[in-house]
Amino acid sequence: MSSAATVPRHIAVIMDGNGRWANARGLPRKAGHRAGAEAVREAVEICQDLKVDYLTLYAFSSENWNRPEEEVKSLMKLLERFLKTKAREITKKNVRLQAIGRLHLLPDHVRRELDQVISDTRENDGLTLVLALSYGSREELVDATRAIANKAAAGEISPDEIDGELVSQHLYTRDCPDPDLLIRTSGELRLSNFLLWQLSYAEIFISQKNWPDFRKADFEEAVAEYARRNRRFGKV
Ligand code: FPP
Repeated sequence: MSSAATVPRHIAVIMDGNGRWANARGLPRKAGHRAGAEAVREAVEICQDLKVDYLTLYAFSSENWNRPEEEVKSLMKLLERFLKTKAREITKKNVRLQAIGRLHLLPDHVRRELDQVISDTRENDGLTLVLALSYGSREELVDATRAIANKAAAGEISPDEIDGELVSQHLYTRDCPDPDLLIRTSGELRLSNFLLWQLSYAEIFISQKNWPDFRKADFEEAVAEYARRNRRFGKV
């Protein structure tokens, strides 16, 4: 558990700006994604130091499938390599890996590695690292609605029983508390179809830095800013 109420229990991150980071250096976009994967390792370490319980990273959105085929391929390759190497190192330190999204759409070579790391780290009880992959919040809500409707049609639940808790229990995030803090890098002011239900009460921290440049001090600044905010959940 988090050591103090001022430390967010769950941090969610929209890791934006890999392409701009690479562009600014005259490098191909895939170099930006590689640098982004390096920043992921550091983010995990910082969250362990801060005693955060959950870190959810938006690593590949359902919209990202529409990028040029070459970029999608290189992101999938990077992801496979990340799962084979960095994720192994990261999870040695008692990190549990989980994933959310329409995971069945991932190529087999990625899915295999993902399933393996998830299974190998199931018993770890330190930080939970959740990768959002082929993830879209509207798709998640559609999937949840369909599952609930099927149960109602089968007579397993009555429509009167549908409440916020039941909806939460049918989301991909059913085992996870809602994020307390959302960090978005590269200065964009959008949610981009990320955890729309779960972020209802989250504090939002926008950094102007591109994701590969978002390092330890920036993470600490976001958490310090979170600690200064007064969360009222709609009350006075
Ligand atoms: C946004 O940058 C980032 C992504 C689409 C993918 C995020 C992927 C990583 C950080 C690396 C791989 C992750 C793991 C977990 C191995 P962008 O390409 O949209 O940047 P831009 O807006 O500047 O073009």
